[in-house]
Amino acid sequence: MTGNGNGRSAVGTGRAVVIHPLLREGQDAHRSPEARLAEAVGLAEAIDLDVVHAQVVKVTRPTPATLLGSGAVEQLARTIEAFGEDGREVVLVVVDHALSPIQQRNLERGLKTKVIDRTGLILEIFGARARTREGQLQVELAALSYQRSRLVRSWTHLERQRGGFGFLGGPGESQLELDRRLILERIVKLKKELEDVRRTRGLHRRARERVPYPVVALVGYTNAGKSTLFNRMAGAEVFAKDLLFATLDPTMRAIGLPTGRRVILSDTVGFISDLPTHLVAAFRATLEEVEAADVILHVRDVAHPDTEAQKADVEAVLGDLGIDVGADPRVVEVLNKIDLLDAGARETLLNQTGRSDAVVPLSAVTGEGVDRLFTRLDRFMTDGRAVVDLTVPLTDGAAIAWLYDRGEVLERRDEDAVAHIHVALDQADLARFERRYEYHPD
Ligand code: GTP
Repeated sequence: MTGNGNGRSAVGTGRAVVIHPLLREGQDAHRSPEARLAEAVGLAEAIDLDVVHAQVVKVTRPTPATLLGSGAVEQLARTIEAFGEDGREVVLVVVDHALSPIQQRNLERGLKTKVIDRTGLILEIFGARARTREGQLQVELAALSYQRSRLVRSWTHLERQRGGFGFLGGPGESQLELDRRLILERIVKLKKELEDVRRTRGLHRRARERVPYPVVALVGYTNAGKSTLFNRMAGAEVFAKDLLFATLDPTMRAIGLPTGRRVILSDTVGFISDLPTHLVAAFRATLEEVEAADVILHVRDVAHPDTEAQKADVEAVLGDLGIDVGADPRVVEVLNKIDLLDAGARETLLNQTGRSDAVVPLSAVTGEGVDRLFTRLDRFMTDGRAVVDLTVPLTDGAAIAWLYDRGEVLERRDEDAVAHIHVALDQADLARFERRYEYHPD
């Protein structure tokens, strides 16, 4: 478990088995169990595990003790044992589902191997990928809260048992009490540190806001190709690998558009289906940049069999952040990986999207279509110049100077303590001005 905040995974390299329990009530109409299993395998490989066996396990009646039926546990134990015969044992079993602490412990006993559930796996990935101090702190906090909920729950369980037998203060209890206290102390310390880091980040963000460039944020499902597109657009090297979650903390870079206009490109962490609740806060925090972005590029892998379900996931999370994808002109859908489509599918897609402004098909790898995205961004920035009247107090010299700098002041009338300014501005700049100085057109 990632618990030291240094971003290193404690699981490390080793042989692993991944199983996706197929429960009747948990079935997803959009994704096949095989696709879910493949995603879990991808996630396990993202932390360098060598997945030697992957399996969908049908669970007709989930058991409180092990989730899986006893037959399935026995069969898995045999499979795992067989792998160990060459001396290279399976070191970890990943169960792509939530496990109660008791289920986890019983499975570890039955399978004679360390077992982690889906939350544990994603925590490992977040831990391995967090690059900024804030990202690392958030992951550690999430990991501790997760551990704490497990300790508390197993502790209550023990307590209940003890109630029946009447022995109090056994060694188990004091150890758990100690663990619990240590975890709580660490959580309090981390929260404080996180506040400090956030304060300085706030300062950084304000410093960045002084840079008069609009921000273009890349969002998308994990492995959709955000980092690759970012690199292509920025001509920069940003750790793009065939790994899920190659990005946790936003990465920013200033780039020039064809007209010479500059924008800041911001890469964000990939989305994932069924994000465990413990991790939602940590994940959301990485998307703060997106809410304030001038343009949001939703990068999609159109060659992925689950592309539609992935799109729905991303749009739902954006919706939670207050970004209504259908109505928000800031969102541009980038249909990536068109080089992987066969000629027919590609032709259809290109015809369908035509000259649409909201959808741009391209390949981040071959570069095809990227020019069109640049042109699209340029147009977005300069299109529909707004001519507005703004009333700004004369004492706010910074806001007035900003308007002269970014816009074309057509007329100005000073009266009492205010300036009435008739100004032409790019839409993006007007939005930035309103956000930053909180003066709105008359
Ligand atoms: P996370 O950081 O996990 O969210 O992933 P990401 O969205 O940043 O994806 P990344 O750029 O790391 O790309 C994932 C994989 O897809 C890499 O192996 C890329 O080489 C590949 N890829 C990205 N874009 C394209 C494309 O246009 N065509 C093809 N064929 N492969 C692509």
